[in-house]
Amino acid sequence: MSKKTFRIAAIAGDGIGKEVMPEGLRVLDAAARRYGIGLDIVEIEWASCDYYAAHGQMMPDDWKQQLQGVDAIFFGAVGWPATVPDHVSLWGSLLKFRREFDQYINLRPVRLFDGVPCPLAGRKPGDIDYLVVRENTEGEYTSLGGIMYEGTDREIVIQESVYSRHGADRVLKYAYELANRSRRKRLTVATKSNGIAISMPWWDKRAEAVGQDYPDVSVDKQHIDILSARFVLQPDRFDVVVASNLFGDILSDLGPATTGTIGLAPSANLNPDRKFPSLFEPVHGSAPDIHGQNIANPVAMIWSAALMLDFLTESQGAGRAAHDAIVQAIEAAIVQGPRTRDLGGQASTTEMGKAIAERVAQG
Ligand code: NAI
Ligand code: MG
Repeated sequence: MSKKTFRIAAIAGDGIGKEVMPEGLRVLDAAARRYGIGLDIVEIEWASCDYYAAHGQMMPDDWKQQLQGVDAIFFGAVGWPATVPDHVSLWGSLLKFRREFDQYINLRPVRLFDGVPCPLAGRKPGDIDYLVVRENTEGEYTSLGGIMYEGTDREIVIQESVYSRHGADRVLKYAYELANRSRRKRLTVATKSNGIAISMPWWDKRAEAVGQDYPDVSVDKQHIDILSARFVLQPDRFDVVVASNLFGDILSDLGPATTGTIGLAPSANLNPDRKFPSLFEPVHGSAPDIHGQNIANPVAMIWSAALMLDFLTESQGAGRAAHDAIVQAIEAAIVQGPRTRDLGGQASTTEMGKAIAERVAQG
């Protein structure tokens, strides 16, 4: 049987990115060995503020060529605001990947684990378990607009939102597919068609049109304001949630916040067409306040590794099994320890990573 080897670019970035990356790679390696998945890891130093300090830019000019043939990017965190302004580090690296690799899906699983205190009163594992699908390339986030009469009392500013049928349909289709494969087959479409009276009624219509192909999926259209309230009050209502760029950005921080520490939340920036590499990263940043102490929680990085294996193998066979084994090992480590401080324990980043890798290795 011929086995495909996946080529992965591992970019640690800055701060705790450099501390959680080794644990992500440790668990990836354990999973690849246990489930017979071929991985070729290329470790990359650029896309970091250290590289910026030496070269005056975040990435080499030929970054795209260097990533040619890579199946996925496994990314730590970027940002060191003490020396490089955040908009420079982010736009010079991560946002280039998202845009130039057309990673039009931002996927964030939201799940309450056993053993993690929930900020929402009375919630238990199983009550919060859904996926947020955010459009990642257009919508409210554009560079179209400008300021006129700046500095005078006639000053005006315009920033356009842009939705395309191409852009909306592909993210909606992706979300319907996910919902169709989920146990509850429920899709929530975030909208604001009562207030944003041109683009959002159009978005709702696209959701209806794309939904024609998915008769088994039950669709629940909700205005973003009450939808946000329900993330807090009735999280058990949700299965798959799809939203435009801005609404999805907010929902995908609110959701993970309701499940405890940010140290757990993973994310995927996907190019589902597989024309370009997709990128898998923790939701958190480089956490300058705790870096260098080996106390960061490595779970978000490790869970991102599981999402990567699942995507690379199209949720089939060994990749799916490896994904499930990693998530189960995370679940066990959170309940039984060793746990990092943000989870109320005393373990180091390395100890928690090793414990999860050992569980994965044992299957
Ligand atoms: P942050 O996520 O780095 O930190 C927020 C808070 O959460 C801090 O108190 C931190 O100690 C804590 N925290 C984060 N990850 C943790 C973990 N794994 N275990 C335990 N505690 C954890 O966000 P902040 O402080 O706003 O940004 C710091 C830098 O990171 C900035 O330069 C920012 O631009 C960058 N950033 C990069 C992101 C990325 O690479 N995708 C995402 C978010 C921020
Ligand atoms: Mg955000």
